[in-house]
Amino acid sequence: MTRFAGCVIVAAGKGERFGDAIKVLTPVGGRPCLAWVLDAMQAAETVRDVVIVYGQHSEAPIRALLTAGDWPKVVSLVAGGEQRQHSMANGVRAVADDLDVVLVHDAARPLIRPELVDQCAEQARETGAAILATPVSDTVKRVERGVILKTIDRSGLWAAQTPQGFRREILLELCDSALSHGIEFTDEASLGEALGRDIGIVPGDRLNIKLTHREDVELADALFRQRQGATIVRYPRTGIGYDVHRFAAGRKLILGGIEIPYERGLDGHSDADVLLHAIADALLGAAALGDIGVHFPPTDMRWKDLDSRDILRHAVELLKDQGWIPGNLDATIIAEAPKINPHVPMMRAEIARVTGLSEDAISIKATTNERMGFVGREEGIAVLASATIVPSES
Ligand code: CTP
Ligand code: MG
Repeated sequence: MTRFAGCVIVAAGKGERFGDAIKVLTPVGGRPCLAWVLDAMQAAETVRDVVIVYGQHSEAPIRALLTAGDWPKVVSLVAGGEQRQHSMANGVRAVADDLDVVLVHDAARPLIRPELVDQCAEQARETGAAILATPVSDTVKRVERGVILKTIDRSGLWAAQTPQGFRREILLELCDSALSHGIEFTDEASLGEALGRDIGIVPGDRLNIKLTHREDVELADALFRQRQGATIVRYPRTGIGYDVHRFAAGRKLILGGIEIPYERGLDGHSDADVLLHAIADALLGAAALGDIGVHFPPTDMRWKDLDSRDILRHAVELLKDQGWIPGNLDATIIAEAPKINPHVPMMRAEIARVTGLSEDAISIKATTNERMGFVGREEGIAVLASATIVPSES
């Protein structure tokens, strides 16, 4: 006997609820569903041999997939049967008899992780039988003819997944009883229960979903995107921002978080700090997080007279939530008056304080518009800004 397990992948269903007889080859996460399953079994340390059970329509495409891929653990392909237990039994009988633990896994569960396969195999070896399952989180109702009969006590309810693992002799016994039963068992554990076997639970993974209905593909795609995103190396990014505010009498002029003595201020819903708005937009733009209008809608009275340093602080927080920190900032203030340069050191110090950047990573420049256009006519101030952001873990 070896310490390894055999794994039977059942792929012979008709995919009736899904609406495709070869649902196990449906592309998810950019590859056929079965390819992900085979990768996981290839990576699972406890699995030595893999047996695939194909259906009437899936034999040729599965053979083609195996030719194109690299899964040396696949040792045989066998035909399935009318019911899942027939398919399972055909597969189990094809597993080499020096393997004393056999796992059965749905080909329709592409998100299975190798570690859980190993845990299932190890527990099955120890206790005889173990399946992956998760506690039920929804409130479950028994319904007849569209009407609720009763609510089933959720405590103690678990949703069964695969793999389901058994010591070989137990599974063979289940196979015999399965074939003599007329009713369909949707998993191996239910066969075991029918025979009064104790079957243990390995806490499964809620993400180990089964493709049953069409919309499950969308869910699986999103989960694969997230899984792939987590391993992608992130490089610095850049963003741009632009803002303009009109002068108004009787308001303070706030630029870069400081007050600048001048006869007029800028008009706006908040304190109208056009420089901090452009910078916040550049930062949000770099992380593709929308603009400040999205996060602080001008129609929302909560933001009236808001200190724009809070806007900038919030933008930095949003970046942080996505794993980014600011790298550097560069801005150009376009104004005919007042003179900006004398105030630049204080602006840089204030922006450094709010963003956590060092002052030497903050550049603020100023220019006039040569008396042309609305800036030239001193109707308002415009600002252009660019920002880089870097992954926070680097
Ligand atoms: N399965 C099998 N042989 C069967 C029935 C099911 O090998 N006679 C396999 C399916 O291919 C699938 C797994 O068992 O990988 C789980 O079954 P399910 O999700 O019910 O798939 P289908 O039976 O194909 O779908 P449906 O019940 O909607 O027809
Ligand atoms: Mg089925």
